[in-house]
Amino acid sequence: MTPLLAPLGGSPIGSAPTRTGIAPLPDGVQGADVASFYHLPKTGVTGKSCRGLACWVARSLNPAGWAAAEQQDLRIHCLGNCFAAPARADSTARPHMQVVAPQAIVLPRLVSGGARRLSTSRELGGYEAWRRARQLAPERVLEIMEASGLRGRGGAGFPVGRKWRAAAAQPAGEKYLIANADEGDPGAYIDRFLLEEDPHAIIEGLLIGAHAIGATLGWIYVRSEYPAAHAILLEALQEARAAGWLGPDALGVDRPFDLAVHQGGGSYVCGEETALIRSLEGRRPEVLARPPYITESGLWRRPTVVNNVETLVNVPWIVTHGSDAYHAMGHAQSRGTKVVSLNSLFRRPGLYEVEFGVSVRHIVEELGGGLRTDLPIKGVFIGGPLAGIIPPHLFDTRLDFEELRAIGAGVGHGGVVAFDEQTSIRALLQHVFSFAAYESCGKCTPCRRGSRLLAESFAARLREQPDGTLSAADVDALIAVLKWTSLCGLGTGLAEFAESAFRHFGKELNPCPP
Ligand SMILES: Cc1cc2nc3c(=O)[nH]c(=O)nc-3n(C[C@H](O)[C@H](O)[C@H](O)COP(=O)(O)O)c2cc1C
Ligand code: SF4
Repeated sequence: MTPLLAPLGGSPIGSAPTRTGIAPLPDGVQGADVASFYHLPKTGVTGKSCRGLACWVARSLNPAGWAAAEQQDLRIHCLGNCFAAPARADSTARPHMQVVAPQAIVLPRLVSGGARRLSTSRELGGYEAWRRARQLAPERVLEIMEASGLRGRGGAGFPVGRKWRAAAAQPAGEKYLIANADEGDPGAYIDRFLLEEDPHAIIEGLLIGAHAIGATLGWIYVRSEYPAAHAILLEALQEARAAGWLGPDALGVDRPFDLAVHQGGGSYVCGEETALIRSLEGRRPEVLARPPYITESGLWRRPTVVNNVETLVNVPWIVTHGSDAYHAMGHAQSRGTKVVSLNSLFRRPGLYEVEFGVSVRHIVEELGGGLRTDLPIKGVFIGGPLAGIIPPHLFDTRLDFEELRAIGAGVGHGGVVAFDEQTSIRALLQHVFSFAAYESCGKCTPCRRGSRLLAESFAARLREQPDGTLSAADVDALIAVLKWTSLCGLGTGLAEFAESAFRHFGKELNPCPP
């Protein structure tokens, strides 16, 4: 069957799609100002090594591998192989996967070996929730999602039902739904394995969402660091079209819905929803200020919903089992389960589906089994480097959006990166500031210039060149201005990370050079 939507491949797009499809511009039309934004070449990441946070903290496990990453001209900050870090792109390793929650919502098909093909997915109940949802009025689907308490798994934890209702309430016409498969947080790899091993669950979540909000077209925006996921998604879309799940009558007679896959160009900030939308439009993907919110004016100024991959995979389970069953799991305002991705320094790294409300201690000690370096844990990141560090004395904090926020940390994307006593906090600061400086979209001066100044200053401290360093007062001022003036979570997250480092490891960091 001919797709309604011309696949975008890596091509830039010049005009809004219509029901009859869009014509992507030929490669090379993209202006230099757009192309220069992205870090990765079209040749991809084959054979390349990663130098993201999960690899950096584990560099003692494979010094030669880490040296190769440092010497590489290309900077790659996550390959989704954090369970085997320091990581290379050509690794075919698969992580340990385990459900330790009362109900298996996200991981069941992965634990049973994966459901990449439509036939396997159907044997395991794939598309049954969609059959049920399409019998329901969109309003009823919205009510179910609201009552479930499902919150987005992409970082902000925004209630899914509320977001979908905001888009549904917009006047009828073209509306778009996008799966955010950019998974940029070093340390997180759940989306990678959902994309590679359960792509039909993502398509099913998108179909249910499209029905609820009245979307006509959708995209899956997948990062170029995940080439296998990109190929698998293209196959899955073909299968879904051939089976009639996608196409002219996907949502009912003459109610079309089709999907395309768009491959990113290597940019952490493109995971942010306004940057992602600009990237899809073929523009320079700088973050936009809100309002207007994208549910009113998003892709090509049409109402748009962006949801994370893991969020979407929760949706079919909720439709099948009901909002009460979902809401029965979890803690306080954090309902259901969350998959946490443990890094290679743990004795038992891997993907674990846990109920919200378990303690950080349970995750790092019971599931992770402590560190394989046999050294004590010095701290843990949950949700990437742009989040507060959790030191051991706070390990009784629960995995819960509000409880983690209260200690200056977050759920983020659920990547759990532990580091051991050997890790220098100064070197850690330098690594994270350098990551942020490299990935800043450049729109806010404090983030663009401040992250670079901080990275250079801490690099000078590591080289014991006090002349090149900022004073302690300047560092404090920069962190404060980042926190209060940044337009997106990259700048604010960097400030939260830095604040937590000074709060918990002040003795190690001070006295600072003047
Ligand atoms: C710098 C930055 C990077 C982000 N990267 C991702 C990402 O890789 N994947 C993701 O799902 N959300 C990411 N987000 C969050 C998205 O902007 C958006 O909130 C999310 O995709 C919405 O989906 P959800 O409601 O299902 O969580 C990022 C946000 C920021 C500020
Ligand atoms: S905080 Fe940084 S990444 Fe975010 S919009 Fe501002 S400059 Fe861009």
